[in-house]
Amino acid sequence: MNFNDWLTYIQQRTETALESLLPAPNLAPDRLHEAMRYAALGGGKRIRALLVHGAGSFTHARPEQLDRAACAVELVHAYSLVHDDLPCMDNDTLRRGKPTVHVEYDEATALLVGDALQTLAFQVLAEFPVSVTASGQIEVIKLLAQAAGSHGMAGGQAIDMASSGQEITREELESMHVRKTGALIRAAVLIGARAGEGVSDERRRTLDHYAKRIGLMYQVVDDILDAQSDTATLGKTAGKDAAQGKPTYVSLLGLTEARRFAEDRLAEAHEILLPMGERAARLHELADFIAHRAS
Ligand code: IPE
Ligand code: IPE
Ligand code: MG
Ligand code: MG
Ligand code: MG
Repeated sequence: MNFNDWLTYIQQRTETALESLLPAPNLAPDRLHEAMRYAALGGGKRIRALLVHGAGSFTHARPEQLDRAACAVELVHAYSLVHDDLPCMDNDTLRRGKPTVHVEYDEATALLVGDALQTLAFQVLAEFPVSVTASGQIEVIKLLAQAAGSHGMAGGQAIDMASSGQEITREELESMHVRKTGALIRAAVLIGARAGEGVSDERRRTLDHYAKRIGLMYQVVDDILDAQSDTATLGKTAGKDAAQGKPTYVSLLGLTEARRFAEDRLAEAHEILLPMGERAARLHELADFIAHRAS
């Protein structure tokens, strides 16, 4: 299967799996359940799901096991977007080409959608085996919790809020990006690698090095797209970072240097994978996709 077909195939699998894991829209409380589905279904590139499947191909995991793990990560990601868009955070009105959840519903519902999507992610991992061993399953839960929590995504978001309108150093910016976006991307790779029978420690280290490069690159490219692209292409309002005084790789280094920084991380990611040979083909392709995506 070529990369584009595989992309569509995994995106569709993820959509179907999420569809069945999310509560039915007519179940009480129906407004909340409808809004959860609005937030999690029918959009998004599903990069984190693709990374779970890409890394999971080393583990002899069954595709359904990877689907569950992929859904758990995508549910946490969807929750993070709903909260990121709230008026008290980035105050965005457009997401994945649709009105944001607090615009389409209301703020209290958006808050609860985030809460409920996050808890659903952990419920999925508590209910469905992803790993063949109990200790592997707990490791998967721990990886997701660490990535989402105050040392990971939530912590990165706290730094993001505190640093709006401030000048920060390059080291501080990197540390913010590594947490707010990098942590969950890294978790997607490591969770994929922990599925099924898992991988050797050596492979895990290699995948972790790869994951850290693409995790940082992901947010740098998001910063570049915010500055360079347009709202219709992005499906979210372009130019928000500059308007809100957010420190980004673009504001700190300029567009050309930010692009170069992303390309350097991409080159490192490819090099890191070399010892893994042909079987890492999807991970190479995903790195290119993340670096050169249009939205
Ligand atoms: C957007 O994430 C927010 C960041 C973490 C940079 P994505 O670009 O992965 O958003 P979707 O899931 O494709 O909409
Ligand atoms: C969001 O970063 C990161 C998380 C949601 C954790 P951004 O604020 O840059 O994401 P977009 O640009 O709104 O998608
Ligand atoms: Mg934000
Ligand atoms: Mg935002
Ligand atoms: Mg952004």
